[in-house]
Amino acid sequence: MRRANPSARAAPSRSQNKPMDTELRRAWVEIVTADDYERHMAAIGQAQAAAELTRHIVEAAALPDGARIAIAGAGTGQMLDYLDPALLRPYRLTCADLNPAFLGRLKQRLARAGLQAAVMEDDIERSKLDRAPDLLVATLLLEHIDWRRGVEAIARLEPGICAIVLQENPPGMASAVTPGRPVPPSLAKAMENAHPTLVPRGELEAAFVRYGYLCRDTQTQEVADGKRLVALLFSRTPLRTGNR
Ligand SMILES: C[S@@+](CC[C@H](N)C(=O)[O-])C[C@H]1O[C@@H](n2cnc3c(N)ncnc32)[C@H](O)[C@@H]1O
Repeated sequence: MRRANPSARAAPSRSQNKPMDTELRRAWVEIVTADDYERHMAAIGQAQAAAELTRHIVEAAALPDGARIAIAGAGTGQMLDYLDPALLRPYRLTCADLNPAFLGRLKQRLARAGLQAAVMEDDIERSKLDRAPDLLVATLLLEHIDWRRGVEAIARLEPGICAIVLQENPPGMASAVTPGRPVPPSLAKAMENAHPTLVPRGELEAAFVRYGYLCRDTQTQEVADGKRLVALLFSRTPLRTGNR
């Protein structure tokens, strides 16, 4: 399943990243609307793919009932539109995001799905999430922050398993949003100054190794424009296989 991702733009250093971080943060909190974000993600098949990868992640994690799952950068919870909520019902869920408006929509979705969860506004880089969740999931989050700091912050939380979902582009396409693809207005506005950066898979794996986390499982989903989403499960010990 593993392939190199030669097209991913090399991640800039932390100092290069600083201004971009500010713009990305502003984009997510002040510019992008929930409606526009969801319309775009459904149109390019990434909402559906993220749901399918979440199903895989939860099944591969093989956690006992009552285990704690934290979802960082959970957004509006759009994946719940494409996921059987029974998958998540056995667990104690916490959903976190920077954007309070997105979290409002997420709460409505959780209620419709009959799922209990703690929902909190949280910046993953200074996270107030409880330490040591059994599973931490971060889907399409690292592209929007200084990803090395993100890995450091996640490792500080000491999750039993950490599942990262990344976007990978076809060769020759560097930008996260496909050039020429029409996007809803608030996304177009955000993209004027905020530029998400793809995360090279190999570098991500090496960054996690520094904290003792090895990549134990990989799963991919094809999405629009020749791209794919890839789920990587990291843990310090081999995954249990009981429920798989
Ligand atoms: C591309 S969206 C992905 C949302 C969701 N995981 C999904 O798959 O639909 C990126 C999300 O990360 C959130 N975000 C951006 N920076 C963040 C940060 N520093 N801490 C927590 N969440 C952040 C945004 O508000 C947004 O909801």
